[in-house]
Amino acid sequence: MQRPAIDIRNILKRYGKIQALDNVTFQIPTGEIFGLLGPNGAGKSTLINILCGLVKPDAGSVTIAGHDAKREHQVAAEDFGVLLESFGFYPTYTARDTLTILQRYRGYRDQDEVDTLLDKVGLSERADSRVQSYSQGMHKRLGIATALLGDPKIIILDEPTAGLDPGGMQAIRTLLTDLHAEGTTIVISSHLLGEIERLCTRIALLKSGEIISEGVLKDILTQDGDITSLEDYFLKQTGDYNAHE
Ligand SMILES: Nc1ncnc2c1ncn2[C@@H]1O[C@H](COP(=O)(O)OP(=O)(O)OP(=O)(O)O)[C@@H](O)[C@H]1O
Ligand SMILES: [Mg+2]
Repeated sequence: MQRPAIDIRNILKRYGKIQALDNVTFQIPTGEIFGLLGPNGAGKSTLINILCGLVKPDAGSVTIAGHDAKREHQVAAEDFGVLLESFGFYPTYTARDTLTILQRYRGYRDQDEVDTLLDKVGLSERADSRVQSYSQGMHKRLGIATALLGDPKIIILDEPTAGLDPGGMQAIRTLLTDLHAEGTTIVISSHLLGEIERLCTRIALLKSGEIISEGVLKDILTQDGDITSLEDYFLKQTGDYNAHE
C-alpha cells in the first residue's frame, strides 16, 4: 500500500476536564479529498492544530508525508499548507503584501504565483486594498490563498467555505477539484455537508473526541437504504436523526 499522506495514531488531548481527542487513529491516503466532520466541539480544530504543530498532543503521533510532525516538524511543514479556523493578518497590509511577505518568510519571491493565487481565489480586484477593509469572505479567500503558497502536496483547510458567497464557494470547489486532479491531498473540515458530499472521496466522523466512523464516502452513502444524503448519515451517527419518521 502507498504510504498515507497523513498517519494519525492514538492521539489523546485533554483540556482540563474536557477530553478533546480520545485515542484518535486513522490514515488519510495520498491523493484523497478527505472530509473531517463532527458536531461543534467534536475535536476537529484541535486535531488540525495538532497536525500543523500548533497544539501538542498528550500522547500519540502524527506522520505527515512520512515525517514525524514533532521530531521533524520543519520538514513536515514544507509539505503542507493550512487554513486555520481562526487566523489573522496584518490589517494595514494588502492581500498582495501578505502573500509576498509569506513567500519571503519561506525564502522565495514569485510575483506570478501571487497573481495566480489572487486570481484563483477571486481577490484580484481587491489585491491592493488593505486587509482591514475586507469583508469576511474576502478575508477567508486570502486565508485560502496563503494555504496554497508554495504548491504544497497536502492542504488542510478548517472551514474553508464558511462565510463565502455562492460564487466564492463554486470558485473554491473548482480550485480544490483541480488540485485534487493534480494529485494534491486535501483535508477539509466543514459543517457544509452538501459541499463535503460534492467534493470528498473519503470522510471521518468525530464525536466527543472519538472517531465514530471513517471510510469511502460512496460506500457510506450506499450501505444503508435509509440514508439518502451525508446529512442523514451525519445526523444518524451523531444521534440527532429523526428524519423519515
Ligand atoms: N484552547 C482550549 N482550551 C480549552 N478547551 C479547548 C481549547 N480548544 C478546544 N477546547 C475544547 O475542546 C473541545 C474540542 O474543540 P474543537 O475546537 O476542536 O472542536 P471542533 O470540532 O473544531 O468544533 P466546531 O465545529 O465548533 O469548530 C471543545 O470542548 C472545546 O471547548
Ligand atoms: Mg472547529
